[in-house]
Amino acid sequence: MVDEITRAVEILKTAKTVAVLTGAGVSAESNIPTFRGEGGLWKKYRAEELATPEAFNRNPELVWEWYGYRQKLVLGCRPNPAHEVIEKMEDCFDDFLLITQNVDGLHRRAGSKKMLELHGNLFKSRCTVGRTILDFTLGDDPLPKCESCGALLRPHIVWFGESPDPMKIQLAVEHSEKCDVFLVIGTSAMVQPAAYLPLIAKKMGAKVIEINPKSTPITNDMDVSIRGKAGEILPEIWTKAGF
Ligand code: APR
Repeated sequence: MVDEITRAVEILKTAKTVAVLTGAGVSAESNIPTFRGEGGLWKKYRAEELATPEAFNRNPELVWEWYGYRQKLVLGCRPNPAHEVIEKMEDCFDDFLLITQNVDGLHRRAGSKKMLELHGNLFKSRCTVGRTILDFTLGDDPLPKCESCGALLRPHIVWFGESPDPMKIQLAVEHSEKCDVFLVIGTSAMVQPAAYLPLIAKKMGAKVIEINPKSTPITNDMDVSIRGKAGEILPEIWTKAGF
């Protein structure tokens, strides 16, 4: 693995345009359960019961209860060294973009600005009629309503069966096509279109580096795949790269 880290350092030292894709694994060391790992969020709940438009139409109170629980969970956590290194990257390359699948907002709390939240954000909701998007934390009302039209609010999250904002996808694809280094950190690479982005970068000639304790369906396509925890590997790479 040391060789892999050395190779990743050498690649990053000559990088000009960098893309980073993160998944739930980058927040694992902040004690936020991942979706599919041991004790993962989906282990306790079936996705179909909670994170779909049909589930929300069937039982909006249950879905809001789950998102309220997740908001409380996240507010008790804090960014870890992986989030902190990724934030530092923003000003170290000619061009940089973080594309995160995470909705926990920890990249934002770590200070990341050049970022796309592909799957939305736990602390934003939108009107189910007027589609206005607002910052929102669930309070005492189990069925929050839009202040301007009285319609039900929903979490501003991309649910199963829904697709991310086409503009965000386009920006993510464009940056993946032009980057010379693409870092894939803490994702099982099971969900599209996110999982396809590193393959687009690879096809366009970028070097692709994966950081994950386990291998994934795209591991064999990586130039470097490091078996390890993001909160440990990223600071080590960052220090050795001497940024
Ligand atoms: N450091 C890096 N990676 C880690 C760590 C860690 N400390 N701990 C776990 N991982 C890895 C796991 O090995 C796994 O490959 O993080 C990955 C988490 O995978 P998932 O739980 O599937 O999460 P993610 O890939 O983000 O899921 C994608 O699926 O449920 C939907 O919309 C949801 O955004 C989510 C999407």
